[in-house]
This record gives sequence, C-alpha cells and structure tokens, in this order.
Amino acid sequence: MKKALYNASQIVTVSTQGNHVKRGSAMQDIGVLTGYSIIIEDEQILAVVPNEDLANYQIDDIIDVTGMTILPGLIDCHTHTVFAGSRANEFDLKLKGATYEEIAAAGGGIKNTTTATREAKPEQLLTLAMQRIQHFISLGITSLEIKSGYGLDFMSELKIMAVIDLFRRFAPIDIYSSFLGAHIVPAEYKERRSEYIAMLCEQLLPEIQKAGLANYCDVFCEESAFSAAESEYILTKAREAGLYPRMHTEQFHRIGGLETALKLHALSVDHLEVMAPEQITALANSDTVAVVLPGVSFFLKYSYAPARNIIDAGGIVAIATDFNPGSCHIPNLHLVMSLAALHMKLTMEEIISAVTINAAKALGISEKVGSIETGKLADFAIFNTDNYKNIIYTLGMNLNVMTMKKGKFIYPFTTEEKNENH
Ligand code: NIG
Ligand code: FE
Repeated sequence: MKKALYNASQIVTVSTQGNHVKRGSAMQDIGVLTGYSIIIEDEQILAVVPNEDLANYQIDDIIDVTGMTILPGLIDCHTHTVFAGSRANEFDLKLKGATYEEIAAAGGGIKNTTTATREAKPEQLLTLAMQRIQHFISLGITSLEIKSGYGLDFMSELKIMAVIDLFRRFAPIDIYSSFLGAHIVPAEYKERRSEYIAMLCEQLLPEIQKAGLANYCDVFCEESAFSAAESEYILTKAREAGLYPRMHTEQFHRIGGLETALKLHALSVDHLEVMAPEQITALANSDTVAVVLPGVSFFLKYSYAPARNIIDAGGIVAIATDFNPGSCHIPNLHLVMSLAALHMKLTMEEIISAVTINAAKALGISEKVGSIETGKLADFAIFNTDNYKNIIYTLGMNLNVMTMKKGKFIYPFTTEEKNENH
C-alpha cells in the first residue's frame, strides 16, 4: 500500500544525510523543499520526490496538501505526564511572592503531587494522562517521553510505570518511559535516605527490569534531591539493569551533576538553567544531548539555560516542555518553541531541529524518527500554513491540522473505519 502527501507548500525535512543528529551550526540547516511530495509505503517513508516524479510510482492514495507545511512528527522528549492533583494554589502563592524552592521546603511541591498521585487509582491516572496525550497528538507530537517520579514508594512507582506501559502498548503514538524513582526522597524516608536509595536499586529496579517497564533511568541531581555521588550510584545500577541514564541537573544549584552525567555518557542532561560558562565546552564536545526547557524558566520566572552558547560551541541541543504540575504546567510544545525563540536567542530553524531530530537523539531513537528521510517512519505534523515560520510566530493557536503516525492519520480524531481509508 503506497500513499503520497502531494504538493506541500513546504516540506521541512530536517535531513541529516545519515548522521541522525544535528550538532552546532548544522541545527540551522533544516532542508526546506517546495514543490515536492512524500511517498509512504506502509509505515515508512519510501521517497521524497519533486511533484512531477510522482507519476513514476504506483500510488494507491494521493492526499493533496497544497498550501500546507509538513514537519517531521514532533517529539517531546521530557514530560511528567502521569500525575494527579492540581498545584493551582501553589501557583497562586508564587504569584504572591513565594519561590518554588520555598514552597517545596514547606512540604508542597513534588510532595504535594506525590500525595495526590499515591491516592489516585490506576484508572484515574489513565484517564488524566489519556486526555493529555490526546492533546499532544493534536499538536503533531508522534513520539513522547513520560517519567514516573510522583509515586516514590515501591507500589506507587510501579503503578505509574504500569500506566505508562499501557500507553507504550496501546497509544497511537510511540511512548518512551523513564524511571524517576529518584525524584526526591519521600518524607517517610527523610532520616533514612540510604534506605530509600537501596529500595530503588535493590527492589524497584529489578522489578522494572523483569517486567520491561522502562527505557531510561532519570535522577534529579539537586541540593533538595540527590547528590552527584548518589545520582552516579543509582544511574550505574540502572545501567546494569539495562536502562539508559539521563539526568535533571543544574536546575537550581551546581552540585556536580553535569560532570557526573558526562562521565556516565548519559543520553541527555536536562534543565541546565544555572549551568556556568566554563561547563559548556565539555558538554558541547560530548554526545550527550542538552535538553533545555524554556517553559520552566518562563513559568518560574528565572534564568534560561545557555542554549545559544551550547550550540555556538558545537553541542547538541533539544527542546522539551517538561510538562509537570509544579515547574511547568504548560502542555504545549509549540508555545515552548516560541519561548525558545523569544528568550533563548535561538533561530526558528535551530528550534525545529531541537524538537525533531535532536529530541529523537535524546531518546536514542534518531535512526528511525526525527527527520523526513527515506527509510524513517512516516511520522508527520501537517500545519495549515504555507511557511514553517508561522508555527513559531503564532503563540497560543494550534496550526497543526493533521498528525500522521507510521503512515496513518491519527488526528483529526476519527472513527476506526474512517481511519482505515487512509
Ligand atoms: O523537571 N526538577 C524536578 N522535577 C520537575 C518538577 C517537578 C514538580 O515540581 O512537580 C522538573 O522541573
Ligand atoms: Fe522534569
């Protein structure tokens, strides 16, 4: 079964010529084609050809996308999509002057969401997360990472990982899961942190490995969470259990997390809002992806990660929402892309590379998704605009009108029978 997306106004290929990543100045080159069509065979991209060459192929279904712009399916590589409860009251306190860290120290923050998430039944978590995932799909997201980390005890972390796993198996997009049991030390282990770490490594990790519940292990390396030495210990144990390391680090304080993550060849280091200039070269020279989260800086009103300098030094930068109830209640990658343009001095082209191929690299999946190239999955976000610049220029309105995953339209949401026709 072959189909074609015919005559897009622009196809933003983000082509890497086989490198499967864009580093430094290469992020500027997003390979925009006009007068081209994409030929899809089953789940994959067969070819990207000038419109006039389409006649050389036997195509079963030609979909006219005249006037529209096609991007590789967007990838949100850092989210905390599975949680219960609301922190609107804390947001209100912040508007009145309290800081994120003050609220956390007073027993709010992650602890607050952990209480609500522990109390929630799996089906409640499923319903909440399903609505969020449907919203992501409507924005053109075709690959999504979700972390645990609001359970923080054996059964609650497994409950969250099991919910994420149901989406991994049944959601219409690809879901990747990170085990973030090391988000903070929960209150009941306050005086026994080494016991908590032992529980994570000796009880939870083997269980997660046995059931195949996670792709990655994440740790929050921060004064109020885990030290660099603790993070190294946990991520090393996780690596032995087959989980790739990643790290929340340099968010509020520099306590050695970035250096530890680089030593462990982490797939990504995420946040970096307080990264120092002297740390840039080592990160930029590594294969670890800098995942920057401009929505967090905007939501908490503090510094932005030095993404501009990391790119200028030749590093690999990805952008994600970090959608979560506390530091970034912004479930909208398009808005976060606009924030990167307005506050991080990134070009629109760099931003597109950051939410496609480099986000794929951060998840270790860039050989199959993240760009429009022969052999990759037919994952596309199709925008009702003739120019990709309008996507970042337009804040607060969704220009994505069609989402295709593995050659099938999954948005607009339709009935099964209708989907079969495409
Ligand atoms: O990525 N930094 C730690 N974790 C989340 C925030 C979690 C929360 O406040 O609920 C983050 O910013
Ligand atoms: Fe996060």
